[in-house]
Amino acid sequence: MLTIKKRIAEAILGKVLSLAPDAALTADEIAGLLEYPPDAGMGDLAFPCFRLSKALRRSPVQIAATLAEALSDACIESAEAVNGYLNIRISKDYLALTVLPEILEKKEAYGAPSVGQGKMVVLDYSSPNVAKPFHIGHLGTTVIGHSLRKLHEFAGYRCYGINYLGDWGTQFGKLIVAYRKWGSREAVIEGGIDKLVELYVRINNAIKGDPENGIPADEALAEESRAEFHKLEMGDEENLELWRWFVSISLEEYEKTYRQLGITFDSYKGESFYTDKMPAEVQKLRDAGLLKIDDGASIVDLSEYNMPPCLILKRDGSTLYPTRDIAAAVYRKAEYQFDKAIYVTSSQQCLHFAQWFKVVELMGYDWYDQLVHVPYGTVSLNGAKLATRTGNVVLLKDLFALAIEKVKGIMAEKNPDLVGRDDVAEAVGVGAIVFYYLTNNRIKDINFNLEDALSFDGNTGPYVQYTYARACSVLEKVKGESLADEMKVTCEEEATLLKVMAQYEERVLTALRDYEPSVITRFILDLAVAFNKFYHACRIATETDSVKRATRIRLTEATKHVLGSAFSLICLRKTERV
Ligand code: ARG
Repeated sequence: MLTIKKRIAEAILGKVLSLAPDAALTADEIAGLLEYPPDAGMGDLAFPCFRLSKALRRSPVQIAATLAEALSDACIESAEAVNGYLNIRISKDYLALTVLPEILEKKEAYGAPSVGQGKMVVLDYSSPNVAKPFHIGHLGTTVIGHSLRKLHEFAGYRCYGINYLGDWGTQFGKLIVAYRKWGSREAVIEGGIDKLVELYVRINNAIKGDPENGIPADEALAEESRAEFHKLEMGDEENLELWRWFVSISLEEYEKTYRQLGITFDSYKGESFYTDKMPAEVQKLRDAGLLKIDDGASIVDLSEYNMPPCLILKRDGSTLYPTRDIAAAVYRKAEYQFDKAIYVTSSQQCLHFAQWFKVVELMGYDWYDQLVHVPYGTVSLNGAKLATRTGNVVLLKDLFALAIEKVKGIMAEKNPDLVGRDDVAEAVGVGAIVFYYLTNNRIKDINFNLEDALSFDGNTGPYVQYTYARACSVLEKVKGESLADEMKVTCEEEATLLKVMAQYEERVLTALRDYEPSVITRFILDLAVAFNKFYHACRIATETDSVKRATRIRLTEATKHVLGSAFSLICLRKTERV
């Protein structure tokens, strides 16, 4: 639609200039003013003429009437003046002869903007904390992060995806103590990450105690854990070995989930990697006179910016989460020369990011404004909040497994002879969760309802994957057939389908601008609805008129490309059969 808008804008501009030769107006400005009318019955695009009243010194009604009279371009079917608006209909021939061939030629690259050419983006996402549960609260950072990556790649950016593993910190001291106390090599090998989480939860509960029920907090255990972490930091070989082992067990487990989602990372450099990179930044802060000592701790005062201080060093000199983030950003800038660094986390971390972004600015790094935090709302499952430390959590892998199981059940009824059922069930089950999650604006809090997510008839993943499979099966039927060259759009359903596809690039740009994958999810729904209407209204494989038949088969093929492309932008697997 961007090309179409541009053409219409040129036509309007031509007319405007003939009326007022010195009107200071560009085609781009006019294109930016074109709107989608609320009701398709009014037209495909509308131009609000009051925006020209001043330049042309006429009333909007007059301007609309004048423009409507003389506007012509290959992409315009009709232009009508209504209440100061110019309502424009797009030509069916243009859709058939220009838009459709372009999609067929570019296939899944259709709609790709080029705004990212020559630019580099680093994305920090997923980043679970090792040995703590990988729960459904991480779904957001994982799928929003990956989707943003795909969107940027689609727009021509070079991307580097970093899984900034939470692989360092006092939790390892706790885990080491718990392992020695209650664990064993065999038990961990057998139980994997679940065993580690169990040990972690157990020691946390022991340390906290249950004062209400007369069980006091265990300060000695806490002290022991701190001491083991300190040993680890000092390079104690035995502890280091345990730590490496714990990390690798966790990674193996995460990778199973990433595989299900079709997600890969370019780097797993976690927090531990930055241990030796922090002192230089701390020194820089000190040299710049930015560090203040507050009750023994080193902080950067941010009161001038209405924020609490950013903590850099604890009283015992150990570093903190912001210290590591600052060092990591400096390293990444030098290493990857990014034009933009995106961090996807829950909105609970907004303050953390605002604080250390500010510190980076105060340190004089001129790329501070290339740092972008993309927050998202909380996730709960049918009302139950998900806490990390208590063990009372829904693990992502369990949620996926449950969805896959349910899909298998539905499919056994719907399509008992399906070949490769397990694989399809995984694609649809995981896809249902992802799609449901990404249908909402990211900042909204989400309450998961599995029944809704898995429904085949709602605005769901299964519904759109089914639509994709439907297009594939039509194409399968007519495979190898030679089609008439001529193409003609002869009904509204065909035209609407093409008009939706023509909007793809604009939607991608909006999704990028707002860091909002849900824009793509909604586009997919619009496209699925348009295709299904077309499918029900028009004969395709049974059509006998050769031009109609050729056009409709090609429309189906085009839908497959655009849907497939949009699926990959939101981590939704393409399913040739459902
Ligand atoms: N590991 C952190 C957590 O689970 C998220 C890390 C986000 N990335 C960052 N650079 N701070 O809360």
